[in-house]
Amino acid sequence: MEKKGDALVVVAIDFGTTYSGYAYSFRAEYEKDHTKVYSNSDWRSGDGLATTKTPTVILFSEDKQFCKFGYEAEQKYNTLLEEEEADGWRYFRRVDKITKNLMIEDEQGKPMSALIVFAESIRYLKDQFLQNTQVQGLKFDPNNDIHWVLTVPAIWTDRAKQFMREAAKQAGIPDDMLTLAYEPEAAALYCKELTVQKKEGAESSSLSSFEPGQQFLVLDCGGGTVDVTAYQVQNDGDLRELQRPTGGPWGGTYVDNQYTTFLKELFGADVWSEYSKENPEDVLEIQRRFEAKKKSVNASADDQTTISFPSSLFAKYQIAKNCSSFEECLKKSEFAKTIKVKKDKLRFDHQLVKAFFRVPIDSIVTHVKEIINESKKKGRDIKTILMVGGFSDSSILSQRIISEFKRITVICPTEAVNAIVKGAVIFGHNPNLISERISPLTYGISVNTTFNNKVHPAKLKVVYDGKEMCTDIFQPIVQIGHPIRVGKEIFKHTCLPTRALDTEATIEIYESSSECPMYTIDKGVRRLGDLTVSIPNTSKGKNRPIKVEVSFGYTEIVVCAFEEGTETQTTATFDCLLN
Ligand SMILES: Nc1ncnc2c1ncn2[C@@H]1O[C@H](COP(=O)(O)OP(=O)(O)OP(=O)(O)O)[C@@H](O)[C@H]1O
Ligand SMILES: [Mg+2]
Repeated sequence: MEKKGDALVVVAIDFGTTYSGYAYSFRAEYEKDHTKVYSNSDWRSGDGLATTKTPTVILFSEDKQFCKFGYEAEQKYNTLLEEEEADGWRYFRRVDKITKNLMIEDEQGKPMSALIVFAESIRYLKDQFLQNTQVQGLKFDPNNDIHWVLTVPAIWTDRAKQFMREAAKQAGIPDDMLTLAYEPEAAALYCKELTVQKKEGAESSSLSSFEPGQQFLVLDCGGGTVDVTAYQVQNDGDLRELQRPTGGPWGGTYVDNQYTTFLKELFGADVWSEYSKENPEDVLEIQRRFEAKKKSVNASADDQTTISFPSSLFAKYQIAKNCSSFEECLKKSEFAKTIKVKKDKLRFDHQLVKAFFRVPIDSIVTHVKEIINESKKKGRDIKTILMVGGFSDSSILSQRIISEFKRITVICPTEAVNAIVKGAVIFGHNPNLISERISPLTYGISVNTTFNNKVHPAKLKVVYDGKEMCTDIFQPIVQIGHPIRVGKEIFKHTCLPTRALDTEATIEIYESSSECPMYTIDKGVRRLGDLTVSIPNTSKGKNRPIKVEVSFGYTEIVVCAFEEGTETQTTATFDCLLN
């Protein structure tokens, strides 16, 4: 922690499934004002609008060399497609579908190492920070001056987090300068700091949301998923996780998909499919124009939404349907009343556009209601909802949440899209702000016990030092759902060497999503890694207690083992990638 604490600047990278970005703040400035966090505003979407995030898409050339990331990758790949030169190029649009053997499929279904795809994406974001600050005349030594924070979804397994660390390392981020931050916690910190800072101006209701005892939900509405997590503010102002995150696929891209489905209906599935194959650049343009319009869709306005389309689409339609014009055909269709044609533009009725949002928003509302009802049954009292993530910037969504949950204070910070990455910067400056979380899994070690043929399966019987023993017993250290005081609590277990003459003891660490597995060979139990302790002095035979201590860092598990009465400790590093 020391070295990170001395860094001049904290840079947080939010590598999201649909959009990615970074934010940073200087230690000296943070000490005066926690919310002085800068985000990048240099990315330009197709229409030239500056955005603080860029799409999570990455393009590699035929020889698997990194080529472009974000908007530029999108543009380049679609141009290649249009020119029929895309063969062999590797284009990744969704980075959440990693297969078991750690491969990820590109748009054409060809696999590539997920580690390379992740590492190159992180490297791009890291280099963007370094280059942009260099332009401002600031030069940092990435190995010593910068404390890097990577945000990760709170539902990620330890294995996935380990994978992220590995990717960061490959991207040139030293392990001792990296912290992983959970997205909802980062978001909660940001909202809290923002509210505390605006003390004078803030409404008393939102200020009291962060007083000790208060319970709130973080509603993270991203591109792919919507995740809800419950927290409670503790007496020292720290946050305690009350409930693990839950959610569903109701993010902003659901709306985009509804729009595409609708275009297929409007122009005909066959026309649309052929057009998409022949004109990928134009289709990208259609998507980008909708992305821009989507941001201004409002719940109450009756305004029509006007979107311009490439003339190639109308031309395609005319030829394929053998008609005089798209406009003439439209007049005879079911959309005659809801869509008007104006040159290259289509004017959509407000109700039609609102309908694209219906399913995801209804699903979010239903889910939040369920969580609040469940909380009530457990005697909890959720008084606040913090809305973060890009989709929360949609007023049609935030207004609906406000109107559905009238008794609850809904806090939607301006630029909800950056709440997570900015909160991660604050977390990097002071990780102690989050103190308690719920164990996401059961963690344990493998132990032996005297064999009992009434209880133990014969296949686990072994003979050690002439005694029948049962191996592979899962000895839980921390159980799923158990609250853990981060960095403060140590879970202990004592075991004995397997044989009297052993000079080494191997502690095998396992995880499972069941509360108390019997054996480490049970279905669903996964080996995290090993820890080998040296026990050279065999004079006491088996009577050499080995202490195993497990503690939880902010985002990782640390296992330490040593023989009682000796000084030499061994600390585990899990290399989950080898499993
Ligand atoms: N002002 C806005 N109005 C409506 N939607 C918006 C707005 N700004 C961003 N979005 C949408 O938010 C989504 C991106 O949100 P965010 O950047 O939080 O996603 P992410 O972190 O990549 O996703 P995930 O959390 O699922 O990994 C996109 O679907 C985008 O269209
Ligand atoms: Mg996100």
